[in-house]
Amino acid sequence: MWTDSKQLQDFIVPKAMTAEDILLTKNEFVIAAKNALVAGFDGVELHGANGYLLEEFLSPFSNTRTDNYGGSIEDRCRFVLEVTTAVAAAIGKDKTGIRLSPYGVASDMPHYPEIDATCEYLSKELNKIGIAHIHLVDHSAMGAPAVPLEIKSLIRKNFTNSIIHCGGFDKEKAEADIESGLANLIAFGRPFINNPDLVERLANNWPLSTDLHMDLFYAADEKGYTDYPLYQEKLITV
Ligand SMILES: Cc1cc2nc3c(=O)[nH]c(=O)nc-3n(C[C@H](O)[C@H](O)[C@H](O)COP(=O)(O)O)c2cc1C
Repeated sequence: MWTDSKQLQDFIVPKAMTAEDILLTKNEFVIAAKNALVAGFDGVELHGANGYLLEEFLSPFSNTRTDNYGGSIEDRCRFVLEVTTAVAAAIGKDKTGIRLSPYGVASDMPHYPEIDATCEYLSKELNKIGIAHIHLVDHSAMGAPAVPLEIKSLIRKNFTNSIIHCGGFDKEKAEADIESGLANLIAFGRPFINNPDLVERLANNWPLSTDLHMDLFYAADEKGYTDYPLYQEKLITV
């Protein structure tokens, strides 16, 4: 496991959550969501992507449970849907979203035959709960397999509220996905790190910086995170 200060560290073999752990964890999501709102956040995005806990329930590789939280698609989606329902009830469905990464391989999550069927069921159920958004991650720009267009279209068809796409976007690609109706919003990750004024740059058609220090990602201090110049500043100092 990667740690900020000691890099890769060994970790213990995880054990399956008990029924009590599941209840407690659901409650922790609710408490965290409420705390986020008290702290001034506009809303909360549940992390159902990239091999984190919620996605571990979705995949039959990581979820080998024999109770009603594992096995069939409905049972593997149960924890995600219960957490989403509980958080939406606590802070409002209009303030609740979820991030998903079908076909993602982050955290060594293998592909499984029922990915499409899982997305079909999950997106319809999330739509019934009525949360504000689904945020779909496509890390193909970072070397992962692409999220098939059919999956993006299927989720679009099943989910009425906002869809966010993320991964390898520039202004042109972002506008194309929004204009096609496939997404309502685009999220930017890495460009926001080396372009702290990304919004202004996009709005004014200013060039984006290509100077990005990936060796400083996942580090423990501000270097490579908060020390990139603004476009205007750069003009002044050149
Ligand atoms: C330094 C760094 C840290 C990240 N940490 C996380 C993370 O903790 N969880 C997550 O789901 N994605 C994480 N991501 C992925 C981003 O959220 C985003 O999906 C990815 O960078 C693709 O978007 P981009 O091409 O606009 O950068 C991280 C990305 C970077 C560059």
